[in-house]
Amino acid sequence: RAKDLTVFLGTVLHFTDDPWVPGAEGEDDPDSYEVFEPGALVVSRGRVLWAGRREQLPRFARRAQVVDHGNRLIVPGFVDTHIHSAQVDAIASPGGQLLPWLRDYMYPAEMRFRDPRYARQTSSFFLDALLAAGTTTASVYTTTYKHSTDALFAEARRRNLRMVAGKLLMDDGGRSQGGPVPDEYLDRSLAQAEADTRELIRRWHHNGRLRYSVSPRFALTSTVAALKMAGRLYQDSLRTDRPLWSQSHLAENRDEVDAVMRKFKGALHPRSYLDVYDKCDLVGPRSVWGHSVWLDDVDRARLAETDAAVAFCPTSNLFLGSGLFPLNRFGHAGVRVGMGTDVGGGTSYSMLATMNEAYKVVALGNTYPDRIPEDSRATLTALRSFYLATLGGARALHMEEDIGSFRPGREADFVVLDWAATPVLKRRTEAASTFRERLFVLATLGDERAVARTYILGRPARRA
Ligand code: GUN
Ligand code: ZN
Repeated sequence: RAKDLTVFLGTVLHFTDDPWVPGAEGEDDPDSYEVFEPGALVVSRGRVLWAGRREQLPRFARRAQVVDHGNRLIVPGFVDTHIHSAQVDAIASPGGQLLPWLRDYMYPAEMRFRDPRYARQTSSFFLDALLAAGTTTASVYTTTYKHSTDALFAEARRRNLRMVAGKLLMDDGGRSQGGPVPDEYLDRSLAQAEADTRELIRRWHHNGRLRYSVSPRFALTSTVAALKMAGRLYQDSLRTDRPLWSQSHLAENRDEVDAVMRKFKGALHPRSYLDVYDKCDLVGPRSVWGHSVWLDDVDRARLAETDAAVAFCPTSNLFLGSGLFPLNRFGHAGVRVGMGTDVGGGTSYSMLATMNEAYKVVALGNTYPDRIPEDSRATLTALRSFYLATLGGARALHMEEDIGSFRPGREADFVVLDWAATPVLKRRTEAASTFRERLFVLATLGDERAVARTYILGRPARRA
Protein backbone atom coordinates (compact mmCIF):
# COMPACT_ATOMS: atom_id res chain seq x y z
CA ARG A 1 0.00 0.00 0.00
CA ALA A 2 1.28 3.42 -0.94
CA LYS A 3 2.15 5.61 2.00
CA ASP A 4 -0.14 8.53 2.69
CA LEU A 5 -2.38 7.86 -0.29
CA THR A 6 -6.00 7.21 0.59
CA VAL A 7 -9.06 6.70 -1.52
CA PHE A 8 -12.42 7.45 0.06
CA LEU A 9 -15.36 5.68 -1.56
CA GLY A 10 -18.87 7.14 -1.44
CA THR A 11 -21.23 9.36 -3.38
CA VAL A 12 -19.14 12.45 -4.11
CA LEU A 13 -20.66 15.90 -4.67
CA HIS A 14 -18.92 19.23 -5.16
CA PHE A 15 -19.33 22.50 -7.03
CA THR A 16 -17.40 24.39 -9.66
CA ASP A 17 -19.79 27.36 -9.60
CA ASP A 18 -23.12 28.70 -8.30
CA PRO A 19 -25.98 26.51 -9.60
CA TRP A 20 -28.43 29.44 -9.56
CA VAL A 21 -29.95 30.23 -12.94
CA PRO A 22 -31.59 33.68 -12.75
CA GLY A 23 -35.03 33.51 -14.28
CA ALA A 24 -35.23 29.73 -14.02
CA GLU A 25 -36.16 29.27 -10.37
CA GLY A 26 -36.09 25.69 -9.17
CA GLU A 27 -33.57 24.64 -11.78
CA ASP A 28 -29.84 24.17 -11.34
CA ASP A 29 -27.08 24.88 -13.81
CA PRO A 30 -25.91 21.36 -14.76
CA ASP A 31 -22.39 22.66 -15.40
CA SER A 32 -22.01 24.05 -11.88
CA TYR A 33 -21.63 20.77 -10.00
CA GLU A 34 -20.36 17.22 -10.26
CA VAL A 35 -21.94 14.15 -8.67
CA PHE A 36 -20.00 10.92 -8.82
CA GLU A 37 -22.18 7.96 -7.87
CA PRO A 38 -20.46 5.68 -7.08
CA GLY A 39 -17.56 8.03 -6.61
CA ALA A 40 -14.09 8.25 -5.18
CA LEU A 41 -11.97 10.94 -3.59
CA VAL A 42 -8.20 10.47 -3.58
CA VAL A 43 -6.23 12.30 -0.89
CA SER A 44 -2.52 12.58 -0.26
CA ARG A 45 -0.64 14.68 2.29
CA GLY A 46 -3.85 16.41 3.29
CA ARG A 47 -4.76 17.53 -0.19
CA VAL A 48 -7.18 16.37 -2.86
CA LEU A 49 -5.42 14.56 -5.71
CA TRP A 50 -8.44 13.42 -7.65
CA ALA A 51 -12.24 13.13 -7.47
CA GLY A 52 -14.35 11.22 -9.93
CA ARG A 53 -16.28 8.10 -10.84
CA ARG A 54 -15.13 4.99 -9.06
CA GLU A 55 -14.60 2.97 -12.23
CA GLN A 56 -12.33 5.70 -13.57
CA LEU A 57 -10.03 5.65 -10.57
CA PRO A 58 -6.57 6.51 -11.92
CA ARG A 59 -3.92 3.79 -11.97
CA PHE A 60 -1.75 5.48 -9.30
CA ALA A 61 -4.64 5.29 -6.84
CA ARG A 62 -5.01 1.53 -7.08
CA ARG A 63 -2.23 1.10 -4.51
CA ALA A 64 -3.93 3.44 -2.05
CA GLN A 65 -5.50 2.59 1.29
CA VAL A 66 -9.26 2.36 0.90
CA VAL A 67 -11.86 3.82 3.24
CA ASP A 68 -15.29 2.69 2.10
CA HIS A 69 -18.20 4.94 3.07
CA GLY A 70 -20.72 2.94 1.02
CA ASN A 71 -23.27 5.20 -0.63
CA ARG A 72 -22.86 7.96 1.94
CA LEU A 73 -22.50 11.49 0.63
CA ILE A 74 -19.01 13.02 0.63
CA VAL A 75 -19.00 16.83 0.31
CA PRO A 76 -16.42 19.52 1.08
CA GLY A 77 -16.46 20.56 4.74
CA PHE A 78 -19.10 23.13 5.55
CA VAL A 79 -18.11 26.79 5.83
CA ASP A 80 -19.95 28.81 8.49
CA THR A 81 -19.37 32.45 7.60
CA HIS A 82 -20.73 33.92 10.86
CA ILE A 83 -20.68 32.47 14.38
CA HIS A 84 -19.86 33.46 17.98
CA SER A 85 -17.56 31.26 20.05
CA ALA A 86 -18.62 32.98 23.26
CA GLN A 87 -22.35 32.35 22.96
CA VAL A 88 -22.07 28.60 23.56
CA ASP A 89 -23.85 28.90 26.90
CA ALA A 90 -26.39 31.43 25.67
CA ILE A 91 -27.85 29.71 22.59
CA ALA A 92 -31.64 29.42 22.92
CA SER A 93 -32.17 32.45 25.15
CA PRO A 94 -35.67 33.98 24.94
CA GLY A 95 -34.62 37.62 24.83
CA GLY A 96 -36.99 38.96 22.21
CA GLN A 97 -35.46 40.92 19.37
CA LEU A 98 -31.82 41.88 18.88
CA LEU A 99 -31.11 44.80 21.20
CA PRO A 100 -32.74 43.59 24.44
CA TRP A 101 -31.52 40.05 23.71
CA LEU A 102 -27.92 41.31 23.47
CA ARG A 103 -28.20 43.32 26.66
CA ASP A 104 -29.97 40.71 28.76
CA TYR A 105 -28.33 37.50 27.54
CA MET A 106 -25.32 37.88 25.23
CA TYR A 107 -23.18 40.44 27.02
CA PRO A 108 -23.54 38.62 30.36
CA ALA A 109 -22.74 35.27 28.70
CA GLU A 110 -19.67 36.65 26.93
CA MET A 111 -18.41 38.26 30.15
CA ARG A 112 -17.90 34.80 31.62
CA PHE A 113 -14.89 34.64 29.28
CA ARG A 114 -13.07 36.87 31.77
CA ASP A 115 -12.01 33.55 33.27
CA PRO A 116 -9.22 32.13 31.05
CA ARG A 117 -9.96 28.53 32.05
CA TYR A 118 -13.59 28.87 31.10
CA ALA A 119 -12.54 30.57 27.84
CA ARG A 120 -10.24 27.69 26.95
CA GLN A 121 -12.70 24.91 27.84
CA THR A 122 -15.60 26.63 26.11
CA SER A 123 -13.57 27.32 22.95
CA SER A 124 -12.66 23.64 22.86
CA PHE A 125 -16.30 22.63 23.22
CA PHE A 126 -17.25 25.14 20.53
CA LEU A 127 -14.85 23.70 17.94
CA ASP A 128 -15.94 20.15 18.72
CA ALA A 129 -19.55 21.24 18.19
CA LEU A 130 -18.60 22.67 14.78
CA LEU A 131 -16.79 19.48 13.78
CA ALA A 132 -19.71 17.34 14.95
CA ALA A 133 -21.89 19.39 12.59
CA GLY A 134 -19.48 18.88 9.67
CA THR A 135 -18.24 22.49 9.73
CA THR A 136 -14.51 22.70 9.07
CA THR A 137 -14.04 26.45 8.52
CA ALA A 138 -15.80 29.34 10.22
CA SER A 139 -15.56 33.09 10.60
CA VAL A 140 -15.70 33.54 14.36
CA TYR A 141 -16.44 36.40 16.73
CA THR A 142 -14.89 35.91 20.18
CA THR A 143 -15.12 38.55 22.98
CA THR A 144 -13.37 41.79 23.88
CA TYR A 145 -10.95 39.87 26.10
CA LYS A 146 -7.71 39.24 24.26
CA HIS A 147 -7.24 35.86 25.92
CA SER A 148 -10.58 34.63 24.57
CA THR A 149 -9.23 35.06 21.04
CA ASP A 150 -5.99 33.33 22.05
CA ALA A 151 -8.09 30.46 23.41
CA LEU A 152 -10.08 30.04 20.20
CA PHE A 153 -7.01 30.17 17.99
CA ALA A 154 -5.00 27.84 20.23
CA GLU A 155 -7.75 25.21 20.18
CA ALA A 156 -8.18 25.59 16.41
CA ARG A 157 -4.42 25.20 15.94
CA ARG A 158 -4.40 21.96 17.96
CA ARG A 159 -7.04 20.62 15.60
CA ASN A 160 -5.29 21.88 12.45
CA LEU A 161 -8.36 23.86 11.39
CA ARG A 162 -8.70 26.61 8.81
CA MET A 163 -10.42 29.27 10.93
CA VAL A 164 -10.87 33.03 10.70
CA ALA A 165 -11.46 34.92 13.94
CA GLY A 166 -10.95 38.17 15.73
CA LYS A 167 -11.16 39.88 19.08
CA LEU A 168 -14.29 42.00 19.38
CA LEU A 169 -13.73 45.74 19.33
CA MET A 170 -16.22 47.49 21.62
CA ASP A 171 -15.46 50.93 23.02
CA ASP A 172 -18.90 52.49 23.16
CA GLY A 173 -21.23 51.26 25.85
CA GLY A 174 -23.67 54.11 25.29
CA ARG A 175 -27.40 53.95 25.44
CA SER A 176 -27.87 53.92 21.69
CA GLN A 177 -28.12 50.16 21.66
CA GLY A 178 -30.95 49.95 24.13
CA GLY A 179 -28.97 49.81 27.32
CA PRO A 180 -25.45 50.29 28.59
CA VAL A 181 -22.79 47.65 28.09
CA PRO A 182 -21.06 47.03 31.44
CA ASP A 183 -17.79 48.98 31.55
CA GLU A 184 -15.81 45.88 32.41
CA TYR A 185 -16.83 44.36 29.10
CA LEU A 186 -15.65 47.33 27.00
CA ASP A 187 -12.17 47.90 25.67
CA ARG A 188 -10.31 49.89 28.33
CA SER A 189 -9.07 52.38 25.74
CA LEU A 190 -8.76 52.65 22.01
CA ALA A 191 -4.97 52.42 22.26
CA GLN A 192 -5.23 49.21 24.29
CA ALA A 193 -7.73 47.70 21.83
CA GLU A 194 -5.41 48.46 18.94
CA ALA A 195 -2.37 47.09 20.77
CA ASP A 196 -4.25 43.88 21.66
CA THR A 197 -5.43 43.47 18.08
CA ARG A 198 -1.93 43.99 16.68
CA GLU A 199 -0.50 41.47 19.12
CA LEU A 200 -3.12 38.88 18.17
CA ILE A 201 -2.45 39.45 14.48
CA ARG A 202 1.27 38.89 15.02
CA ARG A 203 0.60 35.72 16.98
CA TRP A 204 -2.12 34.07 14.89
CA HIS A 205 -2.52 35.53 11.40
CA HIS A 206 -1.04 32.89 9.03
CA ASN A 207 -0.12 30.69 11.97
CA GLY A 208 -0.79 27.40 10.17
CA ARG A 209 -4.19 27.73 8.53
CA LEU A 210 -5.44 30.45 10.88
CA ARG A 211 -6.40 33.91 9.68
CA TYR A 212 -7.25 37.11 11.55
CA SER A 213 -10.40 39.14 11.05
CA VAL A 214 -10.60 42.71 12.36
CA SER A 215 -13.91 42.50 14.24
CA PRO A 216 -15.69 45.60 15.48
CA ARG A 217 -18.85 44.07 17.00
CA PHE A 218 -21.18 46.51 15.25
CA ALA A 219 -21.64 50.23 14.76
CA LEU A 220 -23.61 50.66 17.97
CA THR A 221 -20.76 49.45 20.19
CA SER A 222 -17.99 51.42 18.47
CA THR A 223 -17.04 55.07 18.37
CA VAL A 224 -16.17 56.62 15.02
CA ALA A 225 -12.53 56.67 16.14
CA ALA A 226 -12.58 52.92 16.80
CA LEU A 227 -14.20 52.11 13.45
CA LYS A 228 -11.57 54.25 11.73
CA MET A 229 -8.78 52.54 13.65
CA ALA A 230 -10.16 49.16 12.54
CA GLY A 231 -10.50 50.42 8.97
CA ARG A 232 -6.90 51.61 8.97
CA LEU A 233 -5.58 48.26 10.21
CA TYR A 234 -7.59 46.44 7.56
CA GLN A 235 -6.71 48.82 4.68
CA ASP A 236 -3.00 48.91 5.52
CA SER A 237 -2.92 45.12 5.40
CA LEU A 238 -4.41 45.05 1.88
CA ARG A 239 -1.15 46.48 0.55
CA THR A 240 0.84 43.58 2.02
CA ASP A 241 1.06 39.90 1.06
CA ARG A 242 -0.90 38.97 4.19
CA PRO A 243 -4.16 40.91 3.91
CA LEU A 244 -6.53 40.77 6.87
CA TRP A 245 -10.18 39.84 6.95
CA SER A 246 -12.79 42.08 8.57
CA GLN A 247 -16.28 41.40 9.85
CA SER A 248 -19.16 43.05 11.61
CA HIS A 249 -22.93 42.98 11.93
CA LEU A 250 -24.88 45.03 9.40
CA ALA A 251 -28.54 45.96 9.07
CA GLU A 252 -29.84 42.95 10.96
CA ASN A 253 -32.80 44.50 12.75
CA ARG A 254 -34.93 47.56 12.05
CA ASP A 255 -34.52 49.11 15.51
CA GLU A 256 -30.77 48.65 15.16
CA VAL A 257 -30.76 50.37 11.75
CA ASP A 258 -32.69 53.34 13.16
CA ALA A 259 -30.34 53.61 16.15
CA VAL A 260 -27.27 53.53 13.90
CA MET A 261 -28.61 56.26 11.65
CA ARG A 262 -29.43 58.42 14.69
CA LYS A 263 -26.04 57.82 16.29
CA PHE A 264 -23.87 58.65 13.27
CA LYS A 265 -25.86 61.30 11.43
CA GLY A 266 -23.92 64.19 12.97
CA ALA A 267 -20.44 62.72 12.68
CA LEU A 268 -20.46 60.88 9.34
CA HIS A 269 -23.62 61.93 7.48
CA PRO A 270 -24.01 58.36 6.23
CA ARG A 271 -26.31 57.54 3.33
CA SER A 272 -27.09 54.17 4.91
CA TYR A 273 -25.94 51.79 7.65
CA LEU A 274 -23.39 50.27 5.25
CA ASP A 275 -22.09 53.75 4.56
CA VAL A 276 -21.05 54.11 8.22
CA TYR A 277 -18.62 51.22 7.77
CA ASP A 278 -17.71 52.37 4.27
CA LYS A 279 -16.79 55.87 5.47
CA CYS A 280 -14.49 54.18 8.00
CA ASP A 281 -12.78 52.13 5.23
CA LEU A 282 -13.98 48.74 6.43
CA VAL A 283 -15.75 47.64 3.26
CA GLY A 284 -13.68 45.68 0.77
CA PRO A 285 -12.34 42.25 -0.17
CA ARG A 286 -12.42 39.71 2.70
CA SER A 287 -14.90 41.84 4.64
CA VAL A 288 -17.88 39.72 5.72
CA TRP A 289 -21.10 41.45 6.71
CA GLY A 290 -23.36 39.50 9.02
CA HIS A 291 -27.10 39.50 8.26
CA SER A 292 -27.44 42.44 5.82
CA VAL A 293 -31.21 42.02 5.83
CA TRP A 294 -32.21 45.69 5.58
CA LEU A 295 -30.09 47.01 2.70
CA ASP A 296 -31.10 48.67 -0.56
CA ASP A 297 -29.87 48.26 -4.14
CA VAL A 298 -27.24 50.98 -3.72
CA ASP A 299 -25.76 49.13 -0.72
CA ARG A 300 -25.76 45.83 -2.58
CA ALA A 301 -24.07 47.41 -5.60
CA ARG A 302 -21.43 48.85 -3.28
CA LEU A 303 -20.79 45.45 -1.67
CA ALA A 304 -20.38 43.88 -5.11
CA GLU A 305 -18.14 46.65 -6.38
CA THR A 306 -15.82 46.38 -3.38
CA ASP A 307 -15.75 42.55 -3.50
CA ALA A 308 -17.20 42.30 0.01
CA ALA A 309 -19.37 39.40 1.19
CA VAL A 310 -22.50 38.89 3.25
CA ALA A 311 -23.43 36.09 5.65
CA PHE A 312 -26.99 34.81 5.32
CA CYS A 313 -28.05 33.61 8.80
CA PRO A 314 -31.60 32.25 8.50
CA THR A 315 -32.04 30.47 11.84
CA SER A 316 -30.93 33.62 13.64
CA ASN A 317 -33.02 35.98 11.51
CA LEU A 318 -36.12 33.93 12.31
CA PHE A 319 -35.30 33.35 15.98
CA LEU A 320 -34.68 37.05 16.64
CA GLY A 321 -37.52 38.16 14.38
CA SER A 322 -35.04 40.21 12.37
CA GLY A 323 -36.41 39.88 8.86
CA LEU A 324 -36.21 37.91 5.62
CA PHE A 325 -32.86 38.00 3.83
CA PRO A 326 -33.54 38.69 0.12
CA LEU A 327 -31.15 36.09 -1.32
CA ASN A 328 -31.85 36.70 -4.99
CA ARG A 329 -31.36 40.45 -4.72
CA PHE A 330 -27.78 39.68 -3.68
CA GLY A 331 -27.53 37.23 -6.55
CA HIS A 332 -28.67 39.80 -9.09
CA ALA A 333 -26.25 42.36 -7.62
CA GLY A 334 -23.35 39.92 -7.87
CA VAL A 335 -22.48 39.97 -4.15
CA ARG A 336 -20.55 37.08 -2.60
CA VAL A 337 -22.95 35.24 -0.25
CA GLY A 338 -22.16 32.60 2.35
CA MET A 339 -24.35 30.94 4.95
CA GLY A 340 -23.88 31.40 8.67
CA THR A 341 -25.43 29.84 11.72
CA ASP A 342 -24.89 32.90 13.94
CA VAL A 343 -24.97 30.73 17.05
CA GLY A 344 -26.12 31.93 19.66
CA GLY A 345 -28.65 34.10 17.74
CA GLY A 346 -28.92 31.08 15.49
CA THR A 347 -30.50 27.97 16.92
CA SER A 348 -28.29 25.24 15.47
CA TYR A 349 -24.60 24.58 14.76
CA SER A 350 -25.69 22.48 11.79
CA MET A 351 -25.43 23.90 8.28
CA LEU A 352 -28.06 21.31 7.26
CA ALA A 353 -30.51 22.77 9.79
CA THR A 354 -29.51 26.18 8.44
CA MET A 355 -30.36 25.10 4.87
CA ASN A 356 -33.77 23.98 6.10
CA GLU A 357 -34.52 27.46 7.48
CA ALA A 358 -32.94 29.17 4.45
CA TYR A 359 -35.45 27.45 2.19
CA LYS A 360 -38.31 28.79 4.31
CA VAL A 361 -36.92 32.32 4.35
CA VAL A 362 -36.69 32.34 0.55
CA ALA A 363 -40.19 30.88 0.23
CA LEU A 364 -41.74 33.45 2.58
CA GLY A 365 -39.90 36.28 0.84
CA ASN A 366 -42.12 35.71 -2.19
CA THR A 367 -45.21 37.06 -0.48
CA TYR A 368 -43.93 39.02 2.49
CA PRO A 369 -43.84 41.96 2.85
CA ASP A 370 -44.84 42.37 -0.79
CA ARG A 371 -46.21 39.82 -3.19
CA ILE A 372 -43.94 39.02 -6.10
CA PRO A 373 -45.62 37.98 -9.38
CA GLU A 374 -46.04 34.23 -9.44
CA ASP A 375 -43.78 33.72 -12.45
CA SER A 376 -40.82 35.35 -10.76
CA ARG A 377 -41.09 33.75 -7.32
CA ALA A 378 -37.87 32.38 -5.86
CA THR A 379 -37.10 28.95 -4.49
CA LEU A 380 -33.90 27.65 -2.97
CA THR A 381 -32.81 24.33 -4.46
CA ALA A 382 -30.88 21.83 -2.37
CA LEU A 383 -27.93 22.06 -4.74
CA ARG A 384 -27.76 25.82 -4.27
CA SER A 385 -27.96 25.38 -0.50
CA PHE A 386 -25.06 22.92 -0.58
CA TYR A 387 -23.18 25.33 -2.85
CA LEU A 388 -23.73 28.20 -0.40
CA ALA A 389 -22.56 26.03 2.51
CA THR A 390 -19.37 24.90 0.71
CA LEU A 391 -17.88 26.72 -2.31
CA GLY A 392 -20.13 29.77 -1.79
CA GLY A 393 -18.87 30.13 1.77
CA ALA A 394 -15.28 29.61 0.65
CA ARG A 395 -15.75 32.35 -1.96
CA ALA A 396 -17.35 34.66 0.64
CA LEU A 397 -14.18 34.25 2.69
CA HIS A 398 -11.94 34.52 -0.41
CA MET A 399 -10.65 31.03 0.34
CA GLU A 400 -11.85 29.29 -2.80
CA GLU A 401 -8.26 28.54 -3.83
CA ASP A 402 -7.76 26.57 -0.60
CA ILE A 403 -11.08 24.96 0.35
CA GLY A 404 -14.70 24.57 -0.74
CA SER A 405 -14.35 22.04 -3.55
CA PHE A 406 -12.56 18.85 -4.57
CA ARG A 407 -10.46 20.38 -7.32
CA PRO A 408 -6.99 18.81 -7.25
CA GLY A 409 -4.73 20.64 -4.80
CA ARG A 410 -7.49 21.79 -2.45
CA GLU A 411 -7.11 21.09 1.27
CA ALA A 412 -8.89 17.83 2.06
CA ASP A 413 -11.43 19.00 4.64
CA PHE A 414 -14.61 17.05 3.99
CA VAL A 415 -17.68 15.58 5.60
CA VAL A 416 -19.46 12.24 5.15
CA LEU A 417 -23.23 12.44 5.43
CA ASP A 418 -25.55 9.51 6.09
CA TRP A 419 -28.76 9.47 4.05
CA ALA A 420 -30.21 7.00 6.56
CA ALA A 421 -29.13 8.61 9.83
CA THR A 422 -32.63 8.46 11.31
CA PRO A 423 -35.61 6.23 10.47
CA VAL A 424 -37.43 9.22 8.98
CA LEU A 425 -34.46 10.21 6.80
CA LYS A 426 -33.90 6.61 5.74
CA ARG A 427 -37.48 6.03 4.70
CA ARG A 428 -37.79 9.34 2.89
CA THR A 429 -34.43 9.23 1.06
CA GLU A 430 -35.03 5.62 -0.01
CA ALA A 431 -38.35 6.68 -1.51
CA ALA A 432 -36.75 9.53 -3.47
CA SER A 433 -36.35 8.85 -7.16
CA THR A 434 -33.61 11.34 -8.12
CA PHE A 435 -30.38 12.57 -6.58
CA ARG A 436 -31.73 16.13 -6.36
CA GLU A 437 -34.82 14.92 -4.50
CA ARG A 438 -32.73 12.92 -2.05
CA LEU A 439 -30.45 15.91 -1.50
CA PHE A 440 -33.42 18.13 -0.73
CA VAL A 441 -34.64 15.67 1.91
CA LEU A 442 -31.19 15.68 3.52
CA ALA A 443 -31.03 19.50 3.44
CA THR A 444 -34.47 19.74 5.05
CA LEU A 445 -34.43 16.93 7.61
CA GLY A 446 -30.71 16.66 8.30
CA ASP A 447 -28.65 17.94 11.21
CA GLU A 448 -25.68 16.69 13.29
CA ARG A 449 -27.18 13.20 13.33
CA ALA A 450 -26.50 12.93 9.60
CA VAL A 451 -22.77 13.60 10.02
CA ALA A 452 -21.05 10.22 9.92
CA ARG A 453 -17.50 11.58 9.91
CA THR A 454 -15.68 14.88 9.53
CA TYR A 455 -12.19 14.89 7.99
CA ILE A 456 -9.52 17.55 8.47
CA LEU A 457 -6.69 17.44 5.93
CA GLY A 458 -7.65 13.86 5.09
CA ARG A 459 -7.73 12.63 8.70
CA PRO A 460 -10.77 11.96 10.89
CA ALA A 461 -11.38 14.87 13.24
CA ARG A 462 -11.16 13.70 16.82
CA ARG A 463 -12.14 15.27 20.05
CA ALA A 464 -9.03 17.10 21.16
N1 GUN B 1 -25.23 42.48 16.63
C1 GUN B 1 -24.26 42.87 17.49
N2 GUN B 1 -23.84 41.83 18.23
C2 GUN B 1 -24.55 40.77 17.84
C3 GUN B 1 -24.56 39.40 18.24
O1 GUN B 1 -23.84 38.96 19.12
N3 GUN B 1 -25.44 38.59 17.59
C4 GUN B 1 -26.27 39.04 16.62
N4 GUN B 1 -27.09 38.18 16.01
N5 GUN B 1 -26.27 40.32 16.23
C5 GUN B 1 -25.44 41.17 16.83
ZN1 ZN C 1 -23.68 37.51 14.99
